[in-house]
Amino acid sequence: MAKKKLNVGLIGYGFMGRAHSNAYLKVNHFFDLNYQPVMKAACARKADKVKPFADNWGWQSIETDWRRLIDRKDIDLIDICSPNNTHKDIAIAAAQAGKMVLCEKPLAMNAKEGLAMTKAVEKAGVPNMVWFNYRRVPAISLAKQLIDEGRIGKVFHYRAKYLQDWTINPNVPQGGPTLWRLDIDVAGSGVTGDLLAHSIDTAIWLIGGIDKVTAMTETFVKKRPLQDDPKKTKPVGIDDACAFLARFKNGALATFESTRYARGRKNQNTFEVNGELGSIYFDLEDAHQLQYYNHKDDSHVVGWRTILVTDSDHPYMKHWWVPGCVIGYEHTFINALADFLEGLGTKNPARPNFRDALETQMVCDTVLKSAKTGVWEKV
Ligand SMILES: NC(=O)c1ccc[n+]([C@@H]2O[C@H](COP(=O)([O-])OP(=O)(O)OC[C@H]3O[C@@H](n4cnc5c(N)ncnc54)[C@H](O)[C@@H]3O)[C@@H](O)[C@H]2O)c1
Repeated sequence: MAKKKLNVGLIGYGFMGRAHSNAYLKVNHFFDLNYQPVMKAACARKADKVKPFADNWGWQSIETDWRRLIDRKDIDLIDICSPNNTHKDIAIAAAQAGKMVLCEKPLAMNAKEGLAMTKAVEKAGVPNMVWFNYRRVPAISLAKQLIDEGRIGKVFHYRAKYLQDWTINPNVPQGGPTLWRLDIDVAGSGVTGDLLAHSIDTAIWLIGGIDKVTAMTETFVKKRPLQDDPKKTKPVGIDDACAFLARFKNGALATFESTRYARGRKNQNTFEVNGELGSIYFDLEDAHQLQYYNHKDDSHVVGWRTILVTDSDHPYMKHWWVPGCVIGYEHTFINALADFLEGLGTKNPARPNFRDALETQMVCDTVLKSAKTGVWEKV
């Protein structure tokens, strides 16, 4: 059967612009889908920057204003890969124009914006998804499967860490084209929205909704130079580090920690789940493995086992290589796109959708609120 063409307009040519372009290029080679994305147009503000990007990845045309991209009749889907402070206006305009909307995480600068975006896509009835790509790491999907199968039983504990070390030097500037993550006006928050949003999305997906939190944050470097104007400095408004305790609605307890000041940790995203019958541990730095402890194993062999998540029985892996051959970071975006395309027009559209991501955003907002008030706050 001929595949239905889906004309994509991508906004942003940076880290995620590349990861998503790669996904559009490859998805139909590895997944048998009814839809075929067509790389119609890439958009960013500067033509001299976006043109070589478009040529390199095979985007057919360029735009330098996202409003023009949304106005184009030949675009079916808008994919937002630009900084957090652009998500709301683009997503709402795209939804109002009847386009499908894919948006990078975090959904928005804050829950108020996220709610407006969620209402817009729901009112327009357009397919939508947020790129919380770690759900599509096969080992994390396997963790979900093991929990849903009841293999670890009732969950008592969830323990998440997301650690990096790239902002320790106080001379690292903020703002500008590449360091917007350090600028509160563009990012909305620091590690809470950037890193913990991933951990929270994974936690909610695996365990269920979060009821309340108590948090602390710290900004270790109080002032930084501006990337665009290095002679000037500006107070740092983001959280450099955040740790919080949480109670899930089902009674399980959780700890979450994130920082960009953990020397030697480049992108360590881990979680452990402890249940009545077993435990699960994942570390993104060993993304092809899942650790599993089964209390029901015979006592002389009981112990943590390492599952190499490369078998065709494991989530997503039948689309990739033979058992023993690992896949990488970029494949999580291809897997996510495949899920989105597979879900189109069905009763089971891919998630997390905007409403799911709004829930994560609400937890982020509550965490930041609790860090200010110093008390437990209900989500
Ligand atoms: N899913 C993930 O794991 C993951 C990883 C990294 C980033 N992200 C998210 O993706 C988004 C982009 O992050 P990034 O790391 O790719 O950033 P980046 O700085 O590498 O790229 C941002 C791009 O947006 C463009 N841009 C900025 N303002 C624009 C505007 N007004 N109109 C059009 N284009 C504009 C820039 O020119 C640049 O090409 C952020 O929301 C970020 O949180 C998600």
